[in-house]
Amino acid sequence: MVSFLSTFSSTSVIDMDRELLEKTAMELVAPGKGILAADESNGTMSSRLEAVGVEPSPETRRSYRTNIFSTQGYEDAISGIILFDETIRQSMDDGTPIPEYLASRGIHPGIKVDTGAKDLANHSGEKITEGLDGLRERCAEYFRMGARFAKWRAVIKIGDGLPSDANISTNAHALARYASICQEQGLVPIIEPEVLMEGDHDAQTCYDVTARILDATFDECNVQGVHIPGALLKPNMTLPGKDCSVQGSREMAAQMTVDCLASHVPFDLPGIVFLSGGQSDEDATAHLNLMNAMDNEHPWQLSYSYGRALLAHALQTWASGSNEESQQAFAHRAKMNSLARSGDWSVDLEV
Ligand code: G3H
Repeated sequence: MVSFLSTFSSTSVIDMDRELLEKTAMELVAPGKGILAADESNGTMSSRLEAVGVEPSPETRRSYRTNIFSTQGYEDAISGIILFDETIRQSMDDGTPIPEYLASRGIHPGIKVDTGAKDLANHSGEKITEGLDGLRERCAEYFRMGARFAKWRAVIKIGDGLPSDANISTNAHALARYASICQEQGLVPIIEPEVLMEGDHDAQTCYDVTARILDATFDECNVQGVHIPGALLKPNMTLPGKDCSVQGSREMAAQMTVDCLASHVPFDLPGIVFLSGGQSDEDATAHLNLMNAMDNEHPWQLSYSYGRALLAHALQTWASGSNEESQQAFAHRAKMNSLARSGDWSVDLEV
């Protein structure tokens, strides 16, 4: 747990670094704002481009993303953008490096630093996220390039006997080591233990598994000395699996999500930035809106770090040839989610 020092004269260098991490974390979850996750790996982004009939290449990935980044006026809704390694090294059309361009618009550049989820030995169907080797040096380089926060995603699958204890403990350990290294290098870590929506499990099972991975992750963070007020959590919402016959209401999903977090997330964490995880654009916005409209007292900002729920329509319109319509689609979803930060979204705003 952090000890806040009361006088500047007694503030050590480490405390000043911690204060900077806390400031960045709070800026990322400032009222009305959330994060755009534009950090699809080259493989994932290429598949998404192919699905809309575009030949994937470094240039098509750059062109699609820089069109989104140049949208006017979205700074009111987007505090930070998570980039992939290829993108943080690319430039806008006028040659300005992308991180420099984003910073000039008051948007924090972020970076995905894991190297992907690989098969977990002796645990069929389960994954461990890799990328700790050389992470300190990569974080230092990304900081020099302008990144101020980072993301690491662990994937937890629900199934017959899954997740195993090994899956939970190895991913929790890796998330905590990643977070610790990031903070040492000046980057706010977004800790993302994603319980997948694939499967026919019910919402209570999602709740129980989410609770397990959250408990394990924050226990490991404690062991590794992660400074919780200088970190953000990017969890799944508590939802039934996509193939579950009982889907439940949006209200139930919002309530179960807040209940789960309230019991398993430290109260000195500044913010929770949900992933959308395959929800429809509108569900992702509506769930966030309901959580922020609730009377429940909770200490964290409840925000978004959406990928597909902010960009799915924008990608389709860009592929059909309209840069402007793509920007409008992105700006609309950003605005809708910004309103959901204060419970002020309603479905009639969608038309
Ligand atoms: O790691 C997951 C992404 O950053 C968020 O993507 O909102 O499409 O689930 P999503």
